Amino acid sequence: MSTQAELKRAVAKAAIRFVPDGKIIGVGTGSTADLFIDELAAVKDRILGAVTSSERSGQRLAAHGIRLFDLNDVEDLPVYIDGADEIDGSFAMIKGGGAALTREKIVAAVARQFVCIADESKRVDVLGRFPLPVEVIPMARRYVARRLAELGGQPKWREGVVTDNGNVILDVHGLRITDPVGLETAIDGIVGVVTNGLFARRGADVLLLGTTDGVIESRRP
Ligand code: A5P
Repeated sequence: MSTQAELKRAVAKAAIRFVPDGKIIGVGTGSTADLFIDELAAVKDRILGAVTSSERSGQRLAAHGIRLFDLNDVEDLPVYIDGADEIDGSFAMIKGGGAALTREKIVAAVARQFVCIADESKRVDVLGRFPLPVEVIPMARRYVARRLAELGGQPKWREGVVTDNGNVILDVHGLRITDPVGLETAIDGIVGVVTNGLFARRGADVLLLGTTDGVIESRRP
């Protein structure tokens, strides 16, 4: 019986085969991404460096001596490797448990391929049991919360958390997300929302799922 930490480590190791030689790669945020960064350290001499989605991951990459690039200086990003809080059968995801969703979505948008690394607890049939993070401009917090409630969720302010971009997070509980693309678009339309944690319009291309039977690789259906 493998622990969740062992499953995360297994997918972090498996993701190394998606790291191309001589390129800059995108690196995400979270405990699984942390383990991937530690694996990346062993092959750091065959990449140019990384762009990342958080200050936290940037510090970990730098501590391993991996060169960091500003996304604005990068023309081509062949791959972005990151975890998820939930992923469904269409490879739509909820992300942002670590409050890094906006930068994650930006790096994912630039990358040609998104490789999601996750333990099997993250694989769900319907997204929404994990509260959906929404990054909000601070002065719009209560307005956005009212609008999110109209969409059927129960937003809760993640008090004390300030994102790398200086904003706040509302976590929306009680959703059963049967139309991830539609909800992602609807929430983005609320004034004051910076980003929401649904990654459906740009979902994962590859899933490396850590299971007790080993790492299962699958492609977006
Ligand atoms: C960070 O903001 C998130 O999107 C993470 O990718 C997500 O929370 C997965 O985290 P773990 O790898 O810690 O489960």
